[in-house]
Amino acid sequence: MASPSKDIFDENLFYKSASAFFNEHQDTALTYDDVSLATNYSEVLPRDTKLETSLSDRIKLNIPIISSDMDTVTEYRMAIAMATSGGMGIIHYNMPYREQVSQVTRVKYHINGLLPNPITVQPEQYIGDVIEMIEEKGYKFRTFPVTEKDGKLVGLLGSRVVKARYGHIKVAEAMDPASTVLTLHENDIKPNPIDVADKFFSKHLGINKLLVVDDAHHLKGLVSISDIERINAEKQSVLKPARDSDFRLLVGAAISTVWKEDGSLDKDAILEHVTNLCTERVDAVAVSAAHGHSAGIGQVVKLLRSEFPDLTIIAGNVTSGSGVEYLADCGADAIKVGQGPGSICTTRVVAGVGIPQLSALYNASQGAEKKGVRIIADGGITKSGDIVKAMTLADSVMLGGLLAGSREAPGEIIEINNKLYKEYRGMGSLSAMKKGSAARYGHLKKDTARKLTAEGIEGMKEVRGSVLNILAEMSGGLQAGMGYNGAKNLEELRDKARFVRISSAGMKESAPHDVIEVAKRS
Ligand code: XMP
Repeated sequence: MASPSKDIFDENLFYKSASAFFNEHQDTALTYDDVSLATNYSEVLPRDTKLETSLSDRIKLNIPIISSDMDTVTEYRMAIAMATSGGMGIIHYNMPYREQVSQVTRVKYHINGLLPNPITVQPEQYIGDVIEMIEEKGYKFRTFPVTEKDGKLVGLLGSRVVKARYGHIKVAEAMDPASTVLTLHENDIKPNPIDVADKFFSKHLGINKLLVVDDAHHLKGLVSISDIERINAEKQSVLKPARDSDFRLLVGAAISTVWKEDGSLDKDAILEHVTNLCTERVDAVAVSAAHGHSAGIGQVVKLLRSEFPDLTIIAGNVTSGSGVEYLADCGADAIKVGQGPGSICTTRVVAGVGIPQLSALYNASQGAEKKGVRIIADGGITKSGDIVKAMTLADSVMLGGLLAGSREAPGEIIEINNKLYKEYRGMGSLSAMKKGSAARYGHLKKDTARKLTAEGIEGMKEVRGSVLNILAEMSGGLQAGMGYNGAKNLEELRDKARFVRISSAGMKESAPHDVIEVAKRS
């Protein structure tokens, strides 16, 4: 017998699109564990799904994951690992300006294809000067092309002579002269530098650097064999590195607002620092503050946009469509969404403000759609399923706590009761603010002697091995979610996602229950 309700049954009244679902739940702000996604008919295998996304029209990522600009999460080691896996790290600003610039340099020089402006030395310098420069800049390499002031190649200074014992010898005396150095003309290496260099190194036994010159023998670039070998090895790996057009790894840097005594913005200090970051080819600058929908942050974003028209600017944090629209109008390309969801955040407890993350993302996504900018779901993500849910509304996610225990996160390993931990603290915690991040929470730097109101805690994370494994696990989870949604790419995930509200009993059912777990989940 046909059920009387059969004719009116409509599955999409139970499992709703984002707009239907969030509009229906306007009165209750929801976060990741409040919802689940319904499955869709699928012809897509998880391994065939594509995770590419973008931060701006200029920056493409191969996985939609960014590491937080926090002093216990992202320094150059984390940034290298993030970009190697296809994401990006944002180096924090709780360090001297010069140190941050040199960390960006370390990432940009990690692996290259054709390096268009290699670091050079001059023939009249002493080897001692070269060693000093290596130490100051933190270069990982010790071989340098030698050029005249006009850029003409006159030799190659090999690492075997860059030693303290030769410090008193001039570069001109120690280098291999240009007549003995193998070069290629710039027309012969473009447009496929990797393949040409690969063949060059196979042909010339024992040569590790390929120097590229123009008709007048001016240096036009450099390729290292180690980079070519790594790039070839990466072609086999599942996660593809995120690189710029010159095959350098992508990296971002966070900046804070700097104010003068009279309360006005210290434009010169900000511009000088960002100019130095851009000279080192930083890919994005993040103007990070707890309250991004504010005049001060808007002013900094406008300033950067007017001075650096091609720079990708990330700004935040906001939790509303109007906040996104404001920062987009100021010139931001990508806007961070999240106030208080972070695992070390106390903003909601202390200030009583902040919005549970999924509702905040839905609101923000409406502003982003209007303005054509991207949004980053920042904070509160504790498992790959949260990333799947976040990516139904955002263009990428930002992770802090999930990465903080990894080998690549800054900080010492601490042993307590036979367990290994690393420190993880909020940038609004007292200790981090004293180190410099006070501006992020609207305090003056010099105020740190007075009582500051902390909006974050200091904690510890269990050590978790390499971030490469964490990212592989997170990406695998995201791909599984996309398979269930029948989405072959992230755009389709956004279009096809159907939401349902779950109860606390439903949540309990969602995690392993009623068994004794014998193998720990990673
Ligand atoms: P997860 O959950 O990934 O969150 O650990 C990382 C994000 O938290 C933000 N953050 C803070 N928020 N007080 C806050 O209210 C803090 O002290 C603090 N420190 C970081 C930040 O957006 C980060 O990406």
